[in-house]
Amino acid sequence: MKFKTDQEKFWAGKFGNEYIGRNVSEEAVASNLDFFSKAFHRIGKPASLVEFGANVGLNLKAIKLLFPAIDLFAIEINGEAAKDLSRLIGKGNVYNGSILKFKPGKKKFEVSLIKGVLIHINPEMLGEVYEKLYKSTSKYILICEYYNPTPVAVNYRGFSERLFKRDFAGEMLDKYPDLQLVDYGFCYKRDRAFPQDDLTWFLLKKE
Ligand SMILES: C[S@@+](CC[C@H](N)C(=O)[O-])C[C@H]1O[C@@H](n2cnc3c(N)ncnc32)[C@H](O)[C@@H]1O
Repeated sequence: MKFKTDQEKFWAGKFGNEYIGRNVSEEAVASNLDFFSKAFHRIGKPASLVEFGANVGLNLKAIKLLFPAIDLFAIEINGEAAKDLSRLIGKGNVYNGSILKFKPGKKKFEVSLIKGVLIHINPEMLGEVYEKLYKSTSKYILICEYYNPTPVAVNYRGFSERLFKRDFAGEMLDKYPDLQLVDYGFCYKRDRAFPQDDLTWFLLKKE
């Protein structure tokens, strides 16, 4: 596969393959069950959801347990992770490629989800990703990322230019005047029962 950015090559290759082994656990799914059961209180029972950068489906597993009838779709750049996703939700429901190449179709999903992925996108490409998140949904966008009031790059496992923090949700609210902030919150890595990365989450709705 040909990619536009170094960040995409990073996730499609060796680093992305090794990430899978480090992160798969039953505990991660349990923490996701806790997180999504809270975040979805404001949505209700969504009929469909697309996840951008779904890895092996640790979020989708939890979402499927919460909403067994939901129609799921996933976008994932890493081939190994995409194989696992295909086993989980069916090959036809997985786009194995970059978000930057993905073209939202006529079919819209009730929720566009992105969790721990905007932080790894080349900042110059964020506008394109916002547009795809926006165009893919009929109603809700759920953003779960590392927040910083101003854009910063931080070292990521010894690599530079691979992790960026900023106010992603605020930028989307500025870009799309018909989006409203419905809810937001914080997950803490020291939570005693259901730890998550230190994620801030924002639920946006198209009015
Ligand atoms: C830190 S992981 C988060 C995985 C998952 N969203 C979660 O919360 O467990 C980032 C994921 O995004 C994927 N990714 C990164 N850049 C991507 C891109 N441009 N297009 C599609 N997937 C991408 C990576 O391969 C990886 O699976």
